[in-house]
Amino acid sequence: GRTAALIPAAGSGTRLGRGPKAFVEVAGKSLLARSVAALAPLVDEVLVALPEGLTLPEGVPARAIGGGATRQESVRRLLRATTAEVVLVHDAARPFLPAQVVHALLEAIPETGAATAALPVADTLVRGAAGRWADPVARDGLWAVQTPQGFRREVLLRAHAAAQAGGHTATDDAGLVARLGLPVTLVPGDARLFKVTAPGDLALAQAVAAMWDA
Ligand code: CTP
Ligand code: MG
Repeated sequence: GRTAALIPAAGSGTRLGRGPKAFVEVAGKSLLARSVAALAPLVDEVLVALPEGLTLPEGVPARAIGGGATRQESVRRLLRATTAEVVLVHDAARPFLPAQVVHALLEAIPETGAATAALPVADTLVRGAAGRWADPVARDGLWAVQTPQGFRREVLLRAHAAAQAGGHTATDDAGLVARLGLPVTLVPGDARLFKVTAPGDLALAQAVAAMWDA
């Protein structure tokens, strides 16, 4: 069956403070161009959700649609724009995507219908209250969830329909699938898959780009 990459890129990048984030460049190449370049060779089609009124920069091998007011709505629109049997949802804001992670996801999807890149948490975790240490959180078994996340399209359509009907939101798509009680496989992510979120992440992105582009 066919595989589509769905890239939500319609956010406004409020925390980064440099305008629509997908268009921000790191070492001369936008976050969007980097994400598309990583996925295009591995899938049959690439669909991107852009902020209303913006268009795809030249040379980015993808098809663009208008995004929604939330990430979840942008993904819902992307889902409606493809008939691929398998979809990989990947944030434009995670520009360094090793092919190995995509291969691992594509291998995992047939078994459960849903899989996400994730990394075991390495830091000590604590719940804070008013800036003070409140309760430690046991780190055993905790994973930090990344993208890409891969699904049989029909599974993610069900999850989005249920979320819409119930008025639920989640920060990612695997969370919507898990909410239905369906299994989601965790596959090894990568430290380089961090999300460019705040201004400090740009320095890290510059450093990774120097290695990535070499
Ligand atoms: N996204 C989207 N549509 C939205 C909001 C977010 O497609 N309405 C996308 C972003 O473009 C990004 C991914 O979802 O690739 C993760 O979102 P986030 O890191 O929060 O990006 P922004 O929403 O742009 O940033 P901020 O929350 O700081 O405004
Ligand atoms: Mg956001």
